[in-house]
Amino acid sequence: MESLSATVRVLVVGTGFIAAQHAAAIHAEPRLELAGVVDVDAGRAAAASRANGGVPWYTDLGAALAETGADGCVVCTPNDTHAGIAERVAAAGAHLLIEKPLATDVAGARRAVEAFARAGRVLMPAHSHRHYDYALTVRDVIRSGELGDVDLVRLSILGGWIWPDWRGWMLDPSRSGGHALHNGVHLLDLVTWWTGDVPETVYARGRRQTAAELDIYDYLEMTVRFAGGAVAVCEMSRGHRPASYARRDVLVTGTGGLLSLPWDAESGTVTDESGTALLPPGGTDGFATQMAAWADAVTGAPAAVSGADGLLAVGMGVAAERSIATGLPVRVDDVVKEAA
Ligand SMILES: NC(=O)c1ccc[n+]([C@@H]2O[C@H](COP(=O)([O-])OP(=O)(O)OC[C@H]3O[C@@H](n4cnc5c(N)ncnc54)[C@H](O)[C@@H]3O)[C@@H](O)[C@H]2O)c1
Repeated sequence: MESLSATVRVLVVGTGFIAAQHAAAIHAEPRLELAGVVDVDAGRAAAASRANGGVPWYTDLGAALAETGADGCVVCTPNDTHAGIAERVAAAGAHLLIEKPLATDVAGARRAVEAFARAGRVLMPAHSHRHYDYALTVRDVIRSGELGDVDLVRLSILGGWIWPDWRGWMLDPSRSGGHALHNGVHLLDLVTWWTGDVPETVYARGRRQTAAELDIYDYLEMTVRFAGGAVAVCEMSRGHRPASYARRDVLVTGTGGLLSLPWDAESGTVTDESGTALLPPGGTDGFATQMAAWADAVTGAPAAVSGADGLLAVGMGVAAERSIATGLPVRVDDVVKEAA
């Protein structure tokens, strides 16, 4: 682990859409310093350098790690590159915060987890939703026991078309892993973390909502059955109109009460036999919270999201894609074990 007092020097690898939010979060975190930026596209790397005070920029990760001697990397590259880059970062002895999904298949996720276990460095998959106020609130209410035994989680994250054009790698299942891995994984990870239970099966249906020509399903319905008996019904859309539409709804019911967290409300509510109480409103920057959690882990705390969590989320995403293809529920354990 890094010393508690020294600044941890970090590279941002992949300087596209989401990298700017991570760079801002690094600047906001006093324990971290941006040591450089890396992108296979020299123009993007140079532009990211200009946007970040002229830090050194590179097109080659190996050169960046060697020349800067960085302690860690924040990886924001396309999904199909994650496992290979993770192995290189581990081999260099650096810590890693890596965008979701950890890999596009379970075998890749497993290689990444094993590489970090061998290297004794921190691997934290960036399941960013876990660090948002709404998700932390739901987790805290469930853990408090106020809802009793949870039997149903309903989570909808609905939005419009967010991708830049029709050639984006996100639309190619061989590069993104499919939409259940690309965006569905946020929901699959959240409901598992919220319930604290073991996911047994995933049953999913996909729709090509925006255009029949799409190779991904931009609208997903995913049902997760947990070992303890709870069910999570998840809905993820990037196919709603207008494109700017964004809505999130959470309902959790249990033997003791229910939690309702509508997107547009000032805050959510918890209702039990004694009445209805308001939950605190949100407002903090989830990317900054996530970066602080990673800095905690690099300086010795347990990682808020572990490599094993990232591997399980990949297994659930693969199970969802497979369920869409077969029309049948898929056992998560079968998917995770077959790559062992
Ligand atoms: N947590 C979230 O809310 C969230 C949101 C959007 C994207 N993401 C994730 O972030 C990652 C990046 O997504 P994006 O939308 O920013 O993609 P993007 O296409 O905008 O950016 C990716 C960048 O990586 C570069 N790149 C490609 N291969 C590389 C390599 N081998 N080494 C270095 N650079 C490489 C590309 O040139 C590009 O600049 C994906 O894994 C995606 O799933 C997460």
